[in-house]
Amino acid sequence: MTALASAARPNFDVETIRADFPILHQQINGHDLVFLDTAASAQKPRQVIQAMVDVMENDYANVHRGVYALSQRATDKFEAARGKAAKFINAPHEDSIIFSRGATEGINLVAASYGQRLGPGDEIITTELEHHSNIVPWQIIAEKQGAKVLFAPMDDNGALDMDAFRSLISNRTKIVAVTHVANTMGTVLPVQEIARLTHAVGAVILVDGCQAAPHMPVDVQALDVDFYAFSGHKIYGPTGIGALYGRPEILADMPPYQGGGEMIETVEKTGSTYKEPPHRFEAGTPAIVEAVGFGAAIDYIQSIGLEGIGAHETDVAAHAEALLRAMPEVEIMGAPGAKTSVLSFNVKGAHAHDVGTILDQMGVAVRAGQHCAQPVMDRFGVHATARASFGMYNTKAEAEALAAAVAKTIEIFG
Ligand SMILES: Cc1ncc(COP(=O)(O)O)c(C=O)c1O
Repeated sequence: MTALASAARPNFDVETIRADFPILHQQINGHDLVFLDTAASAQKPRQVIQAMVDVMENDYANVHRGVYALSQRATDKFEAARGKAAKFINAPHEDSIIFSRGATEGINLVAASYGQRLGPGDEIITTELEHHSNIVPWQIIAEKQGAKVLFAPMDDNGALDMDAFRSLISNRTKIVAVTHVANTMGTVLPVQEIARLTHAVGAVILVDGCQAAPHMPVDVQALDVDFYAFSGHKIYGPTGIGALYGRPEILADMPPYQGGGEMIETVEKTGSTYKEPPHRFEAGTPAIVEAVGFGAAIDYIQSIGLEGIGAHETDVAAHAEALLRAMPEVEIMGAPGAKTSVLSFNVKGAHAHDVGTILDQMGVAVRAGQHCAQPVMDRFGVHATARASFGMYNTKAEAEALAAAVAKTIEIFG
């Protein structure tokens, strides 16, 4: 299986890719499944599923503690996944990768640990484009420390208003927390420029990379960011695992997030001492099987190549967008210049949930709701949208199936 996962695939071929995803080959409500909810969670290729079965059948034991061979093998596979995650985002060292349950936990870790340095009058800047997981942890720590959370606004197209961002940032700013790609409209934020402005005032920057990592090459050193969080299940791996990159010199000075086994050096009745990062931030038995699946997902993506994946997805999403824009009854939310393969829309006179339900009747799976981004909905004055999001396995024929299903919805709501 490992050989299959790492075999190079220089030419992007969507049919070969589709053959790797068993779940895609089924009918829903009498129609071929058209899965357009990859931004919520991506489907899993056989290579990931097999890697997880493999470790459970052959190499499973608890990690880091056993002196016996099986535990050593499990530890090697677990730690290899850390190395793969480091290479995937060009982190300077694998010790700068902390395993988390996902992006949400990674952001909470930074807020709860690094955030302890905040004091009254300090400011955290986030944006109106964020998923709730890059808002709420900052509100919690700001309230505890007497700090403030400021929101950089977006423009009418759904792009970040950089002039407004520049006017918000000051020497009161201590943390800037921005998404790399917005989950609602696919807006790509100018992270490198935001990092430059952040460092110019002596603050640190955390980037929520959940919706970027599956679609574009990420280089945390070139971006010059201090923290970068992403989730395994959005990059075709399992749930329950993700990675948080932290700049080594910053991690070295951060207190633990949670206490327990695995993260300590000594425990005495009078107090405890902690391991060096990343283990200081990984209390308890980790998600061993999931980490192996996460590593296999990274192998899988890299065997295809993110440039090819991103170009294909953009092509399919642009086709879908053109078809929907041609329908006067459809309102597409935002038109940011730089974007990935996400499309949020409404059908005039219909609730997004009804649209989603009718599309499902035709085998088309889209998400409907607020997408954990209430400030985005408020900014556009809508309660909810239907969202079609595209992955490496989607085809132009599926974009057409979406358009046909939307046309049917318009007919029904006449
Ligand atoms: C932009 C963004 N950030 C954070 C998250 C949270 O990810 P997770 O639920 O895997 O922690 C999501 C999930 O939809 C997301 O799209």
